[in-house]
Amino acid sequence: MRIFNTMAAHAIPLVPRSLIRKISRRYIAGETLGDARTRIHALHAAGFRTTVDVLGETASSAEQAESMAREYLNLIEAFGAQNERTELSIKLTALGLHLDEGACMERVSVILREAISRGISACIDMEDTRFTQKTLDAFLHLEADGYLVGIALQAYLARTNDDIAPLVARRSRMRICKGIYAEAKEHLVDGASTDRAAINPHFIRHVSTAIQAGSFVGIATHDAQLIDTLTHWLRSERIDRSRFEFQMLLGVCEPLRDALLAQGFNVRVYVPYGHDWYGYSTRRIKENPRIAGYILAAMMWRDRSR
Ligand code: FDA
Repeated sequence: MRIFNTMAAHAIPLVPRSLIRKISRRYIAGETLGDARTRIHALHAAGFRTTVDVLGETASSAEQAESMAREYLNLIEAFGAQNERTELSIKLTALGLHLDEGACMERVSVILREAISRGISACIDMEDTRFTQKTLDAFLHLEADGYLVGIALQAYLARTNDDIAPLVARRSRMRICKGIYAEAKEHLVDGASTDRAAINPHFIRHVSTAIQAGSFVGIATHDAQLIDTLTHWLRSERIDRSRFEFQMLLGVCEPLRDALLAQGFNVRVYVPYGHDWYGYSTRRIKENPRIAGYILAAMMWRDRSR
């Protein structure tokens, strides 16, 4: 079955966009800000925290980066007006980090200033290794300027062992995730290129070190075994629940997410929306162990509906 799933994941570029779009409805709130507001309102009513992400990867021009910044400002205004205390997720390359660092930092600062004035926090997503150092530098800069901001760290990267040390020392706010990009083996912790479970000891060490040092930590994973180990540790150490939260992606492992909430943990759901749904959705589909089944079912549905 694993081989079948892997083959199906490689076949994704061959799957018609219309099918990817149907499957992606599970992973994104919709294409508009209104869609995101509706979904986030419902999640808040159910007791979840939320992070909102405007879909869109690396900007290819200053105009595109500006347009992304405007979308974030519209979002802040809309959520601020409704008093919805969401968190922003920000990809720095979508704001032009690779085009003009200064202009990107200016855009992020405007967004964060506006967000703070509306009681909205933010987290900087971590992208692929071409941007790791620049993202860390940008984060440290923003944090030193007093912005209410956190950063995502990827436990699959060997360098995270060193990168996390100064952040722990500063009690920075962080989200620990496994990491999603297809990186060369030399960047990864041992075994991670073939086995996602090999990342777990590193993930656990980062979470426990950061929490013990006093950082607020977002534990961003759907790995049931990893969550089980961490909840045992959190309980045995009597860690106050205000010092961490679990985080999951919209549409992924919802029963596990609901069970954590029912146990009294804080749980944040990452809610992406926007027109640029293809890249995000195909990454989620590739991660899904039942991908082959979904794709086959979707293809059958499509054939029947013709
Ligand atoms: P793993 O990949 O080992 O999956 C464990 C289990 O979870 C699977 O066996 C399956 O049961 C289930 N599962 C995982 N993905 C699924 C899917 N799409 N559909 C159905 N089931 C699925 N990455 C990054 O590089 N930079 C970032 O900034 C972020 N930010 C971020 C925020 C939040 C809130 C989350 C939850 C995740 C991220 N990620 C990320 C993505 C993260 O690095 C990782 O790729 C995914 O969370 C999947 O890894 P898991 O930890 O869930 O484990």
